[in-house]
Amino acid sequence: TKNIKLAVVAGDGIGIEVVEQGLVALDAALAGTQVSVEPTEFNLGAQRWHTTGETLTDSDLDAIRQHDAILLGAIGDPSVPSGVLERGLLLKLRFSLDHYVNLRPGKLYQGVSSPLANPGDIDFVVVREGTEGPYVGNGGAIRVGTPHEVANEVSVNTAFGVERVVRDAFTRAAARERKHLTLVHKHNVLVHAGHLWRRTVERVNEEFPQVTTDYLHVDAATIFLTTNPSRFDVIVTDNLFGDILTDQAAAITGGIGLAASANINPDRTAPSMFEPVHGSAPDIAGQGKADPTATILSVALMLDHLGYHTESARVEAAVAADLAERGTTPRSTREVGQAITERIGGL
Ligand code: IPM
Ligand code: MN
Repeated sequence: TKNIKLAVVAGDGIGIEVVEQGLVALDAALAGTQVSVEPTEFNLGAQRWHTTGETLTDSDLDAIRQHDAILLGAIGDPSVPSGVLERGLLLKLRFSLDHYVNLRPGKLYQGVSSPLANPGDIDFVVVREGTEGPYVGNGGAIRVGTPHEVANEVSVNTAFGVERVVRDAFTRAAARERKHLTLVHKHNVLVHAGHLWRRTVERVNEEFPQVTTDYLHVDAATIFLTTNPSRFDVIVTDNLFGDILTDQAAAITGGIGLAASANINPDRTAPSMFEPVHGSAPDIAGQGKADPTATILSVALMLDHLGYHTESARVEAAVAADLAERGTTPRSTREVGQAITERIGGL
């Protein structure tokens, strides 16, 4: 037997509730195999910060590195100043573990209603760069709080960083049926970074002649995500544009309760991290009514990344079947988790 050493960071709010169901689904998926999950819980998030003042220490990071993957629930609480846990914990994990591919599928499952009148067949994936852009913290402010304040957040885009994520996006596009890649940026205004991205896509495209490409400015991309989302297959974009577009992607495919994500280190020099796109939702925390579907779909992404493709497909199929028959009767977090787990079978 083989063990998957899983670092579990449930975090704050509904993170705790949804991760519980994610773990049950994971066990069910692997039940028929020789593989079992060996979870280690990490106490990270608001509570830890309040008691110790720590967000993510070097020794936490070292310990997390010893795992095969990370399952993360949600981070954040209104009692912690904005930015402390986001930068000190979530982004620190993504940056330190070199999660340069932030993979976020946008798929409208059968039975799920979209707010769009004519959603069509929505099935794309956003490859959001995860370690650069305006997220790097390369900024500063002077004369803070005065009328003469100057606040800078400088977006960092390296040839190395752009090329590796673009190549990953092409690889994914080449493996898909439509083999189409859309670069989203804003090179009419952000001329330095924008043209680096454009040139990189053009050059890497030569290695993937079977993949067709096009380009959209980010503002236009938001229009097409509303008017014609089925035109998208793979979208590659920078960290901030990707953050914004993937919330829109979630909104048109049934909401963030369903949106899964994977923070991937494709070179496997550190564990990849799987997390629902949604946050800790303090307003409904502890009530057992958060939808664990996004976490369970993130578990499917994890299984796929770890090479358990059949098991991953089974989890996704179970979610799809549950969604197809999901009525309007509200169900608890546990009930949804249980219904999906039963469909996965195994337990
Ligand atoms: C997300 C979140 C994070 C991000 C925040 C919480 C730092 O919005 O995962 O999309 O901006 O990446
Ligand atoms: Mn976001």
